[in-house]
Amino acid sequence: MTQMKTIGVVTTGGDAPGMNAAIRAVTRIAHSNGMQVIGFERGWEGVITGTFRHLTPRSVGGLIQLGGTILHTTRCPEFKTAEGMKKAAQTLKTHQVCGLIVIGGDGSFRGALELSKITSAQMVGIPATIDNDVYGTDETIGFDTAVNTAVAEIDKIRDTAFSHERIFIVEVMGRQRGFLALTVGITVGAEIILVPEDKCNLSTIVETLKDNARKGKRAGIIVAAEGCGKISEIAKEIEEKTGSEVRLTILGYVQRGGSPTARSRLLANLFAEKAVDLICEGQGNRAVGLQNGKIASIGLEEASKGTKPLDANMLKLADMLSI
Ligand code: F6P
Repeated sequence: MTQMKTIGVVTTGGDAPGMNAAIRAVTRIAHSNGMQVIGFERGWEGVITGTFRHLTPRSVGGLIQLGGTILHTTRCPEFKTAEGMKKAAQTLKTHQVCGLIVIGGDGSFRGALELSKITSAQMVGIPATIDNDVYGTDETIGFDTAVNTAVAEIDKIRDTAFSHERIFIVEVMGRQRGFLALTVGITVGAEIILVPEDKCNLSTIVETLKDNARKGKRAGIIVAAEGCGKISEIAKEIEEKTGSEVRLTILGYVQRGGSPTARSRLLANLFAEKAVDLICEGQGNRAVGLQNGKIASIGLEEASKGTKPLDANMLKLADMLSI
């Protein structure tokens, strides 16, 4: 009897809503293709130590709507060392893992790329991060959920901003990029959107707010990406220079959790199918993604090293909408 091929799956870096849906889909699609699946625990840590659980079509039941990741995740410094890498490669060899599906962001892809240099297992990345900053995909798993979570919270804040005629600054996540802030900002109708890619100086912000007040717009929402700098200091300066009441809300980790939206779940399923297909075809070292509405893949190296541009049209649109 020939032995079933084994695929490994791991979630690494920050969790994102829809990771569980991807784990479930990878497991079921791989089983449908006659392969067995093992899920490494706690990100790269589990690959290094060989800590995993067998995933079966039944064991992944009830996962599709769950936020977080049942496999847990860590940011693992040991994996960045040559020793840690070697141990990880050895685990894959020992357990005859023919392909490893890495669900995470660009940092996870960089790790997978390094590991690919010393293992014969095919590495395939599935982009999952609320930051949406992975090159080679228009959208990552979890982004839509984080956008919807932030929008729901900011809609509530707007009620108070209107009632008290105050300026509210709301900081959203996104690491050093402004994808989350820009999409959230447009969809909540923010008066000002601050992103690291489009440095906006304080005097421009103050002028805009003063001009808005002159036009009769005394309340306002500023959506700021966390990558823009010390937001409490920016808030203080805006208050001093405009003479308006300014309040600050840092949304924080509420954006990372929660049940994935239908869109995040669908992407998880479609990406999982493509990832398993690539392994079945023996095409490793690739990252799957959504490109112009189609599921596609690019080389893992390109995906981990490329810089995804922020849509300049969206920035222009935001300006036109905020007059
Ligand atoms: O990458 C996802 C993210 O939530 C970023 O938006 C944020 O900057 C970072 O992770 C926070 O990292 P940690 O979970 O390690 O605090």
